[in-house]
Amino acid sequence: MNVLVTGILSEKAAQRLNQIATVDTYESDDALSEEQVVARLDGKNALVCLLGDKIDARLLDKCPDLKLVANVAVGYDNIKVADATSRGVLITNTPGVLDNATADLAFGLLLSAARRIGESDRFVRAGKWQGWSRDLMLGQELNGKTLGIIGMGRIGKAFAKRAQAFGLKIIYTKKSSDQSKESELKESFDADKVDLDSLCERSDFISIHCPLTPATRHLVGSAQFAKMKSDCVLVNTSRGAVIDEAALVEALSTNRIAAAGLDVFEREPEVSPGLLKLENVVMTPHIGSASQETRDAMDELAISGLISAFENKCPKNAVNPEAWDAFVKRLKK
Ligand code: NDP
Ligand code: DGY
Repeated sequence: MNVLVTGILSEKAAQRLNQIATVDTYESDDALSEEQVVARLDGKNALVCLLGDKIDARLLDKCPDLKLVANVAVGYDNIKVADATSRGVLITNTPGVLDNATADLAFGLLLSAARRIGESDRFVRAGKWQGWSRDLMLGQELNGKTLGIIGMGRIGKAFAKRAQAFGLKIIYTKKSSDQSKESELKESFDADKVDLDSLCERSDFISIHCPLTPATRHLVGSAQFAKMKSDCVLVNTSRGAVIDEAALVEALSTNRIAAAGLDVFEREPEVSPGLLKLENVVMTPHIGSASQETRDAMDELAISGLISAFENKCPKNAVNPEAWDAFVKRLKK
């Protein structure tokens, strides 16, 4: 097996891969261009890639040997899955192993934005602090408030677990309707499913945990901000483009909503200049899954899936298991 890896893997995952494959690892933080990826994929049958690598029909047609793409991320909006499936290319991702790390970061952003921690830190560093004062940096308490979770999947549920401990009442939206899942969510978190308009109207805090898909692009824009409470705090650790970033700048700068905590941005690594000027936003550079344990687990899962596929077992983390038969046929050629 010949594999291209577009980022550095943990030592353990790299060793496992090296035992079964000839590996070409790109070790720089600067992303490879499409031409560079295509050139390095020549003669290779698998790619281990990151969320900045765009995989679509154009690239796949230039890489006829490629049979498997292991995305070291749970979100796979960087991959046109239908293009891969129709060419018998199997796609895997890394679900489940990053739920706690991402929910922790999202909760950190919620607390930071609601209690103005980023702003307070800048205030102290700037030497502006004159002493204790009753109204200094007054923020919002979580206990007893309503939290709206957009996307109640693995990470949404991990976030809900943390929210329960802080005394938040949970409402949520999700894509599909399933009575038994909704009953489970009611039982586990006393959480109620609502529609997006109602979630925007009722929530004191909103946290986004849905994937970026054509249906969720700009799911939260000016119409949704118009419905939110003026002291609403919005957190996004999903994908930047789920929010219309220009509308968010407008909502924050006109105090239509109170604050935001953002780990993801519409045009990463670019951040809207309007956001950079605002005190009521706390930002992190897409580090939701960035704990040592989680990054190691993501690498491990990516490599396990790849090995499993080339050992003729459809990996559990296949995004398009419907491509399995075609993948196996191509493998045998
Ligand atoms: P899951 O698939 O487990 O959950 C996604 C949830 O979103 C599901 O509940 C799904 O509904 C719901 N959903 C899908 N479409 C819509 C919609 N149109 N409206 C409302 N809800 C919708 O994914 P994960 O929890 O594992 O991951 C979620 C996302 O988080 C990833 O796709 C990724 O983009 C992002 N992420 C970001 C990280 C970071 O570093 N900042 C780290 C990890 C993930 P249903 O249950 O009905 O299918
Ligand atoms: C993901 O997994 O989708 C994140 O964005 C990176 O860990």
